[in-house]
Amino acid sequence: MADPRPTTNEPAIEADPELTTDESDSTLGDDVSCYTASLTSSIQRYPVENNRRYHAYKDGSYILPNDEAELDRLDVTHQKLKILLQDKLLRCPVQNPGRVLDVGTGTGIWAIEYGDDHPDTEILGTDLSPTQPSWVPPNVKFEVDDCEEPWTFRDKFDVIHARYLATAIADWPTLVSQAFQFTKPGGYSEFQDYDLVYYSEDGTLTDDLAIQKWITILLQAARDFGRDPCPGPRLAGLMRDAGFQNKTVGAWNLVQIEDGLEAFTLRLFTQVLGWKSDEVQVLLANVRKDLRNPKIHAQFDFFVAYGQKPMDAS
Ligand SMILES: C[S@@+](CC[C@H](N)C(=O)[O-])C[C@H]1O[C@@H](n2cnc3c(N)ncnc32)[C@H](O)[C@@H]1O
Repeated sequence: MADPRPTTNEPAIEADPELTTDESDSTLGDDVSCYTASLTSSIQRYPVENNRRYHAYKDGSYILPNDEAELDRLDVTHQKLKILLQDKLLRCPVQNPGRVLDVGTGTGIWAIEYGDDHPDTEILGTDLSPTQPSWVPPNVKFEVDDCEEPWTFRDKFDVIHARYLATAIADWPTLVSQAFQFTKPGGYSEFQDYDLVYYSEDGTLTDDLAIQKWITILLQAARDFGRDPCPGPRLAGLMRDAGFQNKTVGAWNLVQIEDGLEAFTLRLFTQVLGWKSDEVQVLLANVRKDLRNPKIHAQFDFFVAYGQKPMDAS
């Protein structure tokens, strides 16, 4: 099957009208279905900056692009994370849930694979960008939605999954509280996310290296922009504060991957810090050299935290 996603030369993404205007969709409250219907054209007017294409709905609120290169990167990242998590899409102990929500679904690859593996489960993936394919399993739907707005789903979910929202979320406590509110009693929420602080266990990542300078500036710029680049270590505490019980947290090490360098950096450095595009490229060329240097062992951590909503919570 041909990849239905557009290239960067085709700025208009074909949103599936059934998904954006289906007012009979039982997963959504009435307000949301009208709201999304009125957005179908404006959500496709994607701005382009430094030759990268960005989301249009809530323009400027998310720092990574949504073009073909970024969508490919997200799909590759999905495969890497699956290997890291021993081929498991979820770590929480849930069997054949009825309804699953995937918050900030990206290309929808997680939702589609979960839907393929669980044909009796209804899966809804939400995102600021309608960049998901339209040929998907019949039990999988996608919706444009800002997860930082008050949630208006009509029904609660057996599982809520949110992966890799580092640098995306302004208010993590509210996000996790809304997940608690919309998890069914006895159901689970699972957050999987990064701590983007780089370190080395053998002292080879030193402060004079371009990679260390780059990540330090990037983390500060993300924080200046009001987006936590390191939610991973906070997840367990956020879930406890929201009311989840039976929490479990795990952490894995990752080595740096090169394919997202521009995506991570361009908007933060040019828009937030005022760097020129050429200056960013010079820094990134040096960062690439460091990343390819086998003598530098830089790594960072990925966290998975899940928790159960108590049976007696409403
Ligand atoms: C780094 S990607 C991860 C995508 C997917 N969760 C995965 O792991 O493959 C983050 C996604 O969150 C989406 N996003 C960012 N802010 C959002 C918001 N406020 N509401 C919904 N989605 C959001 C972005 O559009 C992007 O697709």
